[in-house]
Amino acid sequence: MALLEVENLTVAFDTPSGRVHAVNDVSYTLDEGETLGVVGESGSGKSVHVLAMLGLLPKPPAKVLGGRVLFQGRDLLAMSQAELRSLRGGQIGMVFQDPMSSLNPVLTVGRQLREVIERHTDLKGRHADARATELLDLVGIPRPADRLRQYPHEFSGGMRQRVMIAIGLSCNPKLLIADEATTALDVTVQAQILDLVRDLKDRLGTTVIWITHDMGVVAELADTIQVMYGGRIMERGPVGPVFRDPRSAYTWGLLRSLPDEGARAQRRLYQIPGSPPNMAAPPVGDPFAPRNPFATDRCHREVPPLRPVDAHGHMVAAWYDLPAALREAGHV
Ligand SMILES: Nc1ncnc2c1ncn2[C@@H]1O[C@H](COP(=O)(O)OP(=O)(O)OP(=O)(O)O)[C@@H](O)[C@H]1O
Ligand SMILES: [Mg+2]
Repeated sequence: MALLEVENLTVAFDTPSGRVHAVNDVSYTLDEGETLGVVGESGSGKSVHVLAMLGLLPKPPAKVLGGRVLFQGRDLLAMSQAELRSLRGGQIGMVFQDPMSSLNPVLTVGRQLREVIERHTDLKGRHADARATELLDLVGIPRPADRLRQYPHEFSGGMRQRVMIAIGLSCNPKLLIADEATTALDVTVQAQILDLVRDLKDRLGTTVIWITHDMGVVAELADTIQVMYGGRIMERGPVGPVFRDPRSAYTWGLLRSLPDEGARAQRRLYQIPGSPPNMAAPPVGDPFAPRNPFATDRCHREVPPLRPVDAHGHMVAAWYDLPAALREAGHV
């Protein structure tokens, strides 16, 4: 069953230098229990698309120009701020990059965790404290009861990020949205957090949107991969088929640039030649066309719609036939 249905979501920023088209006509469905990995270069609209659905964009300059986002059948974009607030941190858990700006420096970590738990669950007082201790333990923080009495600056960066993850998980959300949640962590801690999320999915059937630059994490964690570029979905589908048989030249570039298994520590994406589009003046047609060696004339004129590649959810937005183009160019 669909937990989340995003329909034609379109978001722009009105800036002094013109309108920035951050998210363009994004549509997808997320089933209950599914884990979606969202990838794409910096500026591709990954963060803005989730911030828009959670009502967290500053308006102005942001403007939702169109679309609906149905969560359990109800349109998040039509909800009041109060309704959204009660969903966020409750049914929808969030973990964002930059934990220092998300944690309050003058309150103890325990107090912050307890507030979230008391606001969104029936647990109060020492029951909430017990849950907070359990959560810190769960994210691998030693001596959790002592740690709850400390302030964010007494934690290392990796520990703060784990606290953010604990807060995101605190209310057993139906939907967990994580935006570069493990980017700042070393590989070992990252592996622990991924185990934790997998365990949560197994036990509670949590649905997950995992935004990352790291294709390796997507391969490990996600059922479905969604590749974004220029605020659009370029390709989407089950992780296995998309990794084995990409149909977008952009996905192909991202996968090709992956270091091999041995070079785990530096798995961040290598840059595809050329630079990302200026979204204040986006290219006409397929946004990736200017950097795509396989682009056809039509790519430079018309935006390709997302179309099915097979009957199992693999979809691509491309006018060209990538496998044929790769054969012709001698890549396979
Ligand atoms: N407050 C803002 N004002 C103007 N433009 C913005 C604002 N926030 C984001 N944008 C623009 O929206 C576009 C999408 O940004 P977004 O943050 O979603 O990218 P991203 O894919 O999350 O990138 P990253 O991987 O760097 O986090 C970019 O062109 C960005 O410059
Ligand atoms: Mg981002």
